[in-house]
Parts: sequence; structure tokens; C-alpha cells
Amino acid sequence: MNDGSSSTASRNPLKRFLLCSPDHFDITFEINPWMSSQRRPDRKKSWGEWNALVADLRAAGAEVHHFPSLPGLSDMVFPTDVGVVDGDRFVRGRFRHPERRDEAAHGATWLLEHGFTEIPWPDDPGMYLEGGDVLRFGDVLLCGTGPRTSPAAAAYLSQVLGIPVVTVPIVDPRFYHLDMSFCPLDARRAIYAPDVWDREGRRAIGELVPDPLVISVEEALTFSANSVVVGRTVVMPSCPPRIRTRLEDWGFTVRVSPVDEFLKAGGGIRCMSLDLDLLGGARRMSPI
Ligand code: ARG
Repeated sequence: MNDGSSSTASRNPLKRFLLCSPDHFDITFEINPWMSSQRRPDRKKSWGEWNALVADLRAAGAEVHHFPSLPGLSDMVFPTDVGVVDGDRFVRGRFRHPERRDEAAHGATWLLEHGFTEIPWPDDPGMYLEGGDVLRFGDVLLCGTGPRTSPAAAAYLSQVLGIPVVTVPIVDPRFYHLDMSFCPLDARRAIYAPDVWDREGRRAIGELVPDPLVISVEEALTFSANSVVVGRTVVMPSCPPRIRTRLEDWGFTVRVSPVDEFLKAGGGIRCMSLDLDLLGGARRMSPI
């Protein structure tokens, strides 16, 4: 890392993330059912939670890079949505809502400056893609579609990354990105809330995951699925007792890192932590 803004947890990190600090975090528009300009985040608490999250990710063995937001980009603290990154290449996000579109350019600038190569989009104005909809499970890419990402964009991503895609149509608008209802744990296990998807999505995921931890909509409303996994540690915004018991039985360590100020904007830990190696990019040359 050459801009002095980040540090490395270990020489062989279990995971690399890019986070955006909350310098300009606020609720200045309402583009999901969680956001209300009547319930704006507290600046001091936001910084406290964000610094604690960075420390928790590093303690779990992750390498954390970070960059500042720009004035006016009040949702930029959720950099996961700015694109899909794997090792040394990325596809930039195409935001559904105009309020967030400038974030894609800001995120891409950081990635380009740090040696990542951009895979361009075809010239199709009908394609939308937000990174919060994109996850990897085993040998496939999972792509939530509907509220924020279009099926054509999912197909394009699959083609350029060279990995089959399973699309999961989202029907509950409170869970507008797939990372709010699905959290991959390892090659066999995942936490997920099937009730927020359509029948086809439920069937596809049911066939894909050998050992599921199925959670209710109530459990998902705590953002428990909006978590990241670093080795065998699951870093979570909250963890209802039933979920904790199952994770510990499976040999995971649960580390709860509350981000309540960020939940006000409808985003949790996975939204705040852009995975730089979505497909396991370690197999490629990493530019940073
Ligand atoms: N306020 C942001 C939005 O509505 C929250 C983003 C959440 N990101 C995520 N990956 N789930 O777009």
C-alpha cells in the first residue's frame, strides 16, 4: 500500500477489504425503506463504530485498506456497491439510483490508482449492477436481481469473470441487495433468509447449499446475514443466540461489531467492506 492510509494486518492476510471512512456519511436522500432524513446518523458514533469495525476485521486476520469519501457522497461508506473486484481486475458498479452514481467513479479511481485493471461494460443503458448483489458460493457467482441489479448485468458479469451465475430474484424491498439475505460461510455452508426471494430463487439456492443455516425474516432484519467471513471468524453487525449457537457448533468464531449508525442508512458490515478478492483472487497477481 503506498498512500499511507492503510496498514496490513499480516503478510498473508486471510482476506483483503477496502473500506470508506465516514467523513461525509449522512442521510441526504431516501432510496430504501430503512432511510429517513428524520433519523440521521450521529457523526461521533459513526466514527467510533467504523474505527472499531476496522480493528475487528484486522483482529480477525484481514488486511484493510481505506480511503476517504468526497463531499456529497453520503452513501460512499458502503463501497461494496461500487463494483466487483477480484485480485487485480474489477467491473465498476452501475447504480440504479442517480443519487449514488458518482460513487462508482470515485471507487474506480481508487482502484485504478492502485493498479487494478478495469473490465469495461458494453454500451447498454439498461444494465444495472450494485456489488451488494454479488456473492460467490463455491464455484458459482450468486446475483440478486430486481431492486438494484438487472439479469442482463448478471449475465455479463458471469461472462467476463468466467464463472457460472445463479440469479436470485429479490421480492422483499427491505432486503434490496442479496448480501442482506445471504452470507456464504465456506464451501458447504451459508446463512440465508429464503422468504425474501421468489420461488425460483428459493429453489436454486436450496439445491446449491449443502449445509444451510436458514434464518427467518425477523432474524435477517437484525442484519445478521450482512456479515463477512475472515478465515473461520464471522464478523457480524448482530448475532441472535440461535445463529450464534449454530455457527459455534460449526467451528466458527463470532465477532459482533455493532454498526447501528450505518444500519439507519440500510447497510451493515458486508456493505461497508468491499471484498477485493471476490472469486478468491489470491490465485491472481494482487496489485497492492
Ligand atoms: N443506503 C445504501 C443504499 O440504499 C445502503 C447500501 C447497502 N449496501 C449493501 N451492499 N447492502 O444503496
